[in-house]
Amino acid sequence: MTRTPVTRYLTGITTTGTPHLGNYVGAIRPAVQASRRPGTENFYFLADYHALIKCDEPARIQQSTREIAACWLAAGLDPDKVFFYRQSDIAEIPELTWLLTCVTGKGLLNRAHAYKASVDKNLAAGSDPDADVTAGLFMYPVLMAADILMFKAHQIPVGRDQVQHIEMARDIAQSFNHLYGQHFVLPEAAVDESVAMLPGLDGRKMSKSYDNIIPLFAPPAQIRRQIAGIVTDSRAPGEPKAVEGSALFQIFQAFASEEETQQLRQAYADGIAWGDAKQLLFERIDREIAPMRERHDALISDPAKLEQILRAGAEKARAIATPFIAELRHAVGLRNLAAQAGPTAKQKVQKTALPSFKQYRETDGRHYFKLLDAGGRLLAQSTGFPSPQDAGRAVAQLKEANLAAVEASLQLGAGVTQDELAAALTALAAT
Ligand code: TRP
Repeated sequence: MTRTPVTRYLTGITTTGTPHLGNYVGAIRPAVQASRRPGTENFYFLADYHALIKCDEPARIQQSTREIAACWLAAGLDPDKVFFYRQSDIAEIPELTWLLTCVTGKGLLNRAHAYKASVDKNLAAGSDPDADVTAGLFMYPVLMAADILMFKAHQIPVGRDQVQHIEMARDIAQSFNHLYGQHFVLPEAAVDESVAMLPGLDGRKMSKSYDNIIPLFAPPAQIRRQIAGIVTDSRAPGEPKAVEGSALFQIFQAFASEEETQQLRQAYADGIAWGDAKQLLFERIDREIAPMRERHDALISDPAKLEQILRAGAEKARAIATPFIAELRHAVGLRNLAAQAGPTAKQKVQKTALPSFKQYRETDGRHYFKLLDAGGRLLAQSTGFPSPQDAGRAVAQLKEANLAAVEASLQLGAGVTQDELAAALTALAAT
């Protein structure tokens, strides 16, 4: 029976802040829908180690983790069907971060947008380039690579701003694979261009940093009040209104069907009063949110239940992470000392640039072979054999790294040591 290949999707949610309508429309809702696609495995986790990079208020981290977990579950994520866990419950992730750190060029991290932005800001202010830059911020991409590579994820649904991080995860995976063998899947960023960018109260992108958000599960009265505060122009009731550039219209559209959107477009043209349009928007949002709010509030008031769900999720994720980190530890040489030592990493690397044999006949009628390294340098040359079969046998023995069997008929190339020859043969034998 052939198994259809499963595509693994994985995404992290940094646990700072309270989920807002922009997060819901841009990330939570599409992710919950995506998690139901057949032929996929889906990993969603609360990136609380990442949160520590941005936030040094313990109570906020805890509160945000609670809120985000409750939000995703309330929005319909089924923890029995997906992997839903908290990053800091997976001890293998910081462990993998270190293994990856050791194969990551510092120069790669120097080029990370977020780090560079901090440096540029400092330079512009005439400060030390690294002022207020923690090593955590600098290392952010490596931690993120560990999140992704740990679960061999193929597709990483992220916003545009995160694409560079996924590319770095690929680079880091490639470095590791090159040094230690093919352990990691190379991930790809999946940017969904069709997902709506939700404007906030002031018309700019809804974002915590602009302080223009509507929290997803704020009490209805607050949502109503905030909607009343959405910027509009000064057109009076009865005057036709433009949908282009109307934050109110765009937010409505993100929640409404085609048909409903068409109706509001018509109402704009017919000169609906802003107050009435805001009422329509409130009702439309509330219709979608109200059933979720009940589930959300129940979870928020039962944090022990949330804790239990996350721990069960961590257990499921660790069933993958624990054996994988064991494999990786072995690959880099963190091994049981009593176990047989394999080829060294260096010898393994030579797999990709192998020495080769050349067999030929000289004018003296005898048969010879040479061993050349990947760059064509002469490592060793044989003395003459009476037949090509004899020469071939010697080559075969050398390919088994059985140097002793043919030592007498070998001359080392200029400047080549016995050890170098042995290493080349071991690399060949390991393939
Ligand atoms: N850096 C991501 C963000 O700020 C969050 C994140 C952490 C993440 N680890 C991840 C996203 C792994 C995707 C995959 O949005």
